[in-house]
Amino acid sequence: MIYQVYPRSFADSDGDGNGDLSGICERLDHLVDLGVDGFWISPFYRSPMADGGYDVSDPTDVDPMFGTLDDFDALLAAAHERRLKVIVDIVPNHFSDQHVWFQQALAAAPGSPQRARFIFRRGRGEQAELPPNNWPSVFGGPAWHRLPDGDWYLHLFAPEQPDLDWTNPEVQAEFERIFRFWLDRGADGFRIDVAHGLAKPEGLPDFDLSVIPSHAEGAAMPSPHDVRWDREHVHDYHRALRTVLDSYEGSRMAVGETWVPDAERLARYVRKDELNLTFNFDLVEAEWSAVAFRKAIDDALTAMSEVEAVCTWVLGNHDVDRPVTRYGGGVRGLARARAAALVQLSLPGAAYVYNGEELGLPNVDLPDEALKDPTWQRSGHTDRGRDGERVPIPWSGTSPPYGFSTAATTWLPMPEGWGPLTVAAQREDPESTLSLFRRALQLRRSLLAFGNPALDWVDAPGETVAYRRGDLLVVLNAGAEPVRLPAGEVLLSSGPLGDATLPADTAVWLQG
Ligand code: NOJ
Repeated sequence: MIYQVYPRSFADSDGDGNGDLSGICERLDHLVDLGVDGFWISPFYRSPMADGGYDVSDPTDVDPMFGTLDDFDALLAAAHERRLKVIVDIVPNHFSDQHVWFQQALAAAPGSPQRARFIFRRGRGEQAELPPNNWPSVFGGPAWHRLPDGDWYLHLFAPEQPDLDWTNPEVQAEFERIFRFWLDRGADGFRIDVAHGLAKPEGLPDFDLSVIPSHAEGAAMPSPHDVRWDREHVHDYHRALRTVLDSYEGSRMAVGETWVPDAERLARYVRKDELNLTFNFDLVEAEWSAVAFRKAIDDALTAMSEVEAVCTWVLGNHDVDRPVTRYGGGVRGLARARAAALVQLSLPGAAYVYNGEELGLPNVDLPDEALKDPTWQRSGHTDRGRDGERVPIPWSGTSPPYGFSTAATTWLPMPEGWGPLTVAAQREDPESTLSLFRRALQLRRSLLAFGNPALDWVDAPGETVAYRRGDLLVVLNAGAEPVRLPAGEVLLSSGPLGDATLPADTAVWLQG
């Protein structure tokens, strides 16, 4: 079980309102208490922060906002002392426009080797005044930006994130250097950003834009007709990375961020010579219903078992609404998020938990002027973006900044009313979400870690989902009415149980 640290929002050690690497180091005991196996840190490299650090201007240095390379070494050593693995985030699809390569490309002429590291093209139209194709950027608007000399460059994300051309051996060699840099320092693995996007289709053809889901549909798998993603030769790049990983001592790994149309396409990324793990986002996408949960789990298990890989279950991250909010917010949203966590943590395979999920944090409605996500600007102020799930973590106290920082203002404002949600408040409360996660992770280790029992579905009426793993029986009631609680000793439940009944929006772990 891996914990995702969003470094700007985790813990601020130097009082500038931004979290940093030393802040993570000071809070490692929280992760030990929780019982995780390791953590993944979202980007902390040099970056102008046009996209929360996913616009990297130097991938082998630490941004001063987050500290120094020495701070990274100290964090790694402290984590390893506590037997925690450390996964760093590699962003291979694009660099920042401030990266030296892109600055060289801007200074060089069209057709130059400096431009060949990125995806520069001539435009269409008589004066080359139209973009080379009809691709939109993920953050809204066209995916092309025109330079004064008439060349256009591709940016699938923000204009400050020019896409790299992975067919160029120089790009491949540079990423091998970056991988080795972090492996040599002792990192245990990588989370690969946009792992499904590195390969672009030959000729960069137009595609039918009506296949793109609207923002209103929330997180959604791309259509197979969306040619920007999931092209065949992307797998060559993952095989090359795997060769590097396997050449190192110990077990080093990579987990992919792969948004692809279905579980079968996903499984192709974890064939035996490719990535070790890849996120299964099916639970993020599943609506609150027994049918949707069962299908998400079943499809993933079937597809992954065909390539002899394990599933990597996710309920949230820094890109999607927090589970509490996705499930409707308030008391009901929290009840459902807790129940979903008991499902996630009892499934076979790996689980990734995003910082704050263990506290049952909801998204925060931020005022317009606080928003930092480029999506807000690029969508013409129609999509508020992802800041709501990135608000700093409350550690202690009863008012902002809740022990996150000593600064009065934090990079995103923290709301009033989070006193009961702080780590300190939840630590001593046996009914808290933090206690639920801690207990679930203890049980997961003792009941499920050895032998990795297979998941066997159990017949369940209507809106319930039930499965057995070895001695453990898991039942989720996703319906509106209580159901009969099966026989067995109750090990853990996500909320209060009725008299021999499992209430709505509740999950239970039973033994026997
Ligand atoms: C996925 C990351 O998780 C997201 O935060 C980022 O905006 C895009 N990739 C682009 O790097």
